[in-house]
Amino acid sequence: TVLVVDFGAQYAQLIARRVREARVYSEIVPHSMPVSEMLARNPKAIILSGGPASVYADDAPAMGPELFQAGVPVLGICYGFQAMALALGGTVANTGQREYGRTALTVTRGGSTLFQGTPEEQSVWMSHGDACTVAPEGFVVTATSERAPVAAFENDEARLYGTQHHPEVMHSSHGQQLLEHFLYRGAGLTPSWTTQNVVEESVRAVRAQVGDKRVICGLSGGVDSAVAAALVQRAVGDQLTCVFVDHGLLREGEPQQVEKDFVAATGVQLKVVDAQQRFLTALAGVSDPEQKRKIIGREFIRVFEQAAAEVVAEAGAHGAQVEYLVQGTLYPDVVESGGGTGTANIKSHHNVGGLPDDLQFQLVEPLRRLFKDEVRKVGEELGLPAEIVWRQPFPGPGLGIRIVGEVTAERLELLRKADAIAREELTRAGLDRDIWQCPVVLLADVRSVGVQGDARTYGHPVVLRPVSSEDAMTADWSRLPYDVLARISTRITNEVPQVNRVVLDVTSKPPGTIEWE
Ligand code: XMP
Repeated sequence: TVLVVDFGAQYAQLIARRVREARVYSEIVPHSMPVSEMLARNPKAIILSGGPASVYADDAPAMGPELFQAGVPVLGICYGFQAMALALGGTVANTGQREYGRTALTVTRGGSTLFQGTPEEQSVWMSHGDACTVAPEGFVVTATSERAPVAAFENDEARLYGTQHHPEVMHSSHGQQLLEHFLYRGAGLTPSWTTQNVVEESVRAVRAQVGDKRVICGLSGGVDSAVAAALVQRAVGDQLTCVFVDHGLLREGEPQQVEKDFVAATGVQLKVVDAQQRFLTALAGVSDPEQKRKIIGREFIRVFEQAAAEVVAEAGAHGAQVEYLVQGTLYPDVVESGGGTGTANIKSHHNVGGLPDDLQFQLVEPLRRLFKDEVRKVGEELGLPAEIVWRQPFPGPGLGIRIVGEVTAERLELLRKADAIAREELTRAGLDRDIWQCPVVLLADVRSVGVQGDARTYGHPVVLRPVSSEDAMTADWSRLPYDVLARISTRITNEVPQVNRVVLDVTSKPPGTIEWE
């Protein structure tokens, strides 16, 4: 394991991902973790991330020298670089001269461990106010920039390295190479974190955890639950039963993807609950988005609860007990909820939110260590269909929050058709992996006049909301080619009755959210 020490900026997750792209396993720990605890994890290397603070700020997190004396290879980045310089007796000056964004870096030691084989002049991403002016004793300066006289240093003998710029961001031209040099040359690691190994390890871990007990898993049609279920199926076979609640709010073809394609690919035992009517009844007359979300969430839990109780009862009739529930929790959720620091709590007893006390399950979370892109790779390795593995994000409440106004069976039908056309054309244009997602929204409470054939129509608009994003926290509207937009518009207005207008949402997030409700 490589530990990435998080100094509170948004870069730690990116560093961890880049390390894994170099096929070395990494985990994030908070800077508040005592050094003794970090070392107790036996890290093969440690990377100190950037941070928002100046090393001279009152609340600046410091790094004691112990970390650097343990014989573990360390790479300090940005704030971590400066904290390292200070801890080892170098000088960091509060110059007040900021260097921010794209910066020219001059490599002064071409043969150095970090920069070997990369150009003398590099374009890198900087973000700092203070600057290291004197490297600690025993270190050689390996690069400089206009406002950072010591922009990188290393002490090969002690296996300590540091750089002021951010090698993890894509704007740093040879950043990935620098990280790999640190990992392979500096720390002597070998690239062995492969998807195949991840699958094997996860399968082993699930088997060890579950033993001969029975497991239940809810499938939503999304990537995470599908990959989690497929992994557990690979590990314990028919000890797993999946439950799919068809709430009628999925897009065209999605229930079939779960009921046919997923089952065919994995051989999983599936219990399908057709709850379409129940959801429509519960949503009748409701237009308020928050109200809709609450109703959908509540009904979903009730239906799943009942299905789970039936699975438990059926197993009981055969003398077995269902003790585990699969959850598709991903690593970013674990880090963000502060749970990244320990693995001990994985097996503790949870009462899953909303499930009644007499249905207590322990959680199996096979994706808990993975980033989304890794989950997709695992899905491919397990042979899941591309339509599932590469599915774009889709909200839990489904089309229910893409109909502005009351949700009815007829409106769902219209929206499903319009959405299917948009998806088909985007796929045909090869744009699926360029955009984050493209919600299609039916403005059911809005009508506008049109002319179709020779007749006046009074129909509804649909909105196209294509966005690009890294993580859905912020997003920009995608500049789709006009001819693709034109094809989507023509087809929707021709093929979907009652829709006589297609409009494009050109709002970024913020201020607009991705979904309309
Ligand atoms: P917003 O609309 O908040 O959406 O910008 C951000 C991302 O989250 C998805 N989304 C949801 N996902 N349950 C989910 O599982 C929800 O209730 C939900 N609401 C929004 C949305 O599609 C986008 O990717």
